[in-house]
Amino acid sequence: MSESAQPHWAGSRRLAGKGAVVAGASTGIGRATALRLAGEGARVLVGSPAGERALIDSLVDEIRDSGGEAYGADFDATDEASIAALIEQGAAHLGSIDAVHANFADLQIIFEDSDAVSVSDEVIERTLDVNLKGMIRITRHAVPRLLEGGGGAMIYTSSTASIVGEATRPCYAIAKSGINALVRHTASRWGREGLRANAVLPGLVITPEKRNSMPTDFQAEVLELGRSPRLGEPEDIAAMVALLASQDGYWINGQCIAVDGGNTLSRG
Ligand SMILES: NC(=O)c1ccc[n+]([C@@H]2O[C@H](COP(=O)([O-])OP(=O)(O)OC[C@H]3O[C@@H](n4cnc5c(N)ncnc54)[C@H](O)[C@@H]3O)[C@@H](O)[C@H]2O)c1
Repeated sequence: MSESAQPHWAGSRRLAGKGAVVAGASTGIGRATALRLAGEGARVLVGSPAGERALIDSLVDEIRDSGGEAYGADFDATDEASIAALIEQGAAHLGSIDAVHANFADLQIIFEDSDAVSVSDEVIERTLDVNLKGMIRITRHAVPRLLEGGGGAMIYTSSTASIVGEATRPCYAIAKSGINALVRHTASRWGREGLRANAVLPGLVITPEKRNSMPTDFQAEVLELGRSPRLGEPEDIAAMVALLASQDGYWINGQCIAVDGGNTLSRG
């Protein structure tokens, strides 16, 4: 798509009047999701660790420059107080919180996430602390706020790594599988009060940051094994998050939805 071209969804205002928090929004999928939610009319609060504040500020500027309403915040998924503050700032700035996209993950530690025999305790603990316990922490603080507004949507970013077998990165997959269980619990516990909880399971998504750093032979290999003419883009995931946040997702609850171009079909 050229810079001047309108996206295919231009003009869609499914999220007008809604408030959404995107947790883990500095780059990649979270950034694309914030742009999509704001583009569809949501007021958004976007957060990432303090060290990424410049990226968050530039995202906020981009949304505001295109006529949207956006606010930035710092948080760390391992720090309960900062997650509480993120949600409180969301409520204060947005008026109501109707959707929370819990998208963060530590994707640096993954390179040390070798196999179940050799992986260090440090890697196990860090991976679970950010990628799984962080998700429970944000659920703890987001759910009461969502219920105040009559329910709303908790949307988690899991991964297809949670439903296929892989020879490496066991801790990542275990954390993502835990998110899938959290989704089913949250939907079951609060569904009748109007809360919907779902997970998006991306396949390989080539974010702008990964485009140059990910080996091209690996990208070609995934494409070769897959069921789509192309690899995933952050906007593919953002589109599903927007659907789940909108009224169009009203009767989708407790689901772990692969958005992977059908690529998990080839693992059977
Ligand atoms: N890109 C893929 O191929 C792919 C595939 C499957 C799942 N995912 C998942 O999608 C999500 C986004 O990944 P991405 O590819 O866009 O990568 P990314 O590195 O661009 O995004 C990761 C986000 O997590 C945030 N984050 C990292 N550590 C944090 C911490 N301690 N506290 C708070 N926030 C923290 C970062 O600020 C960043 O915004 C992740 O949950 C990832 O596991 C990605």
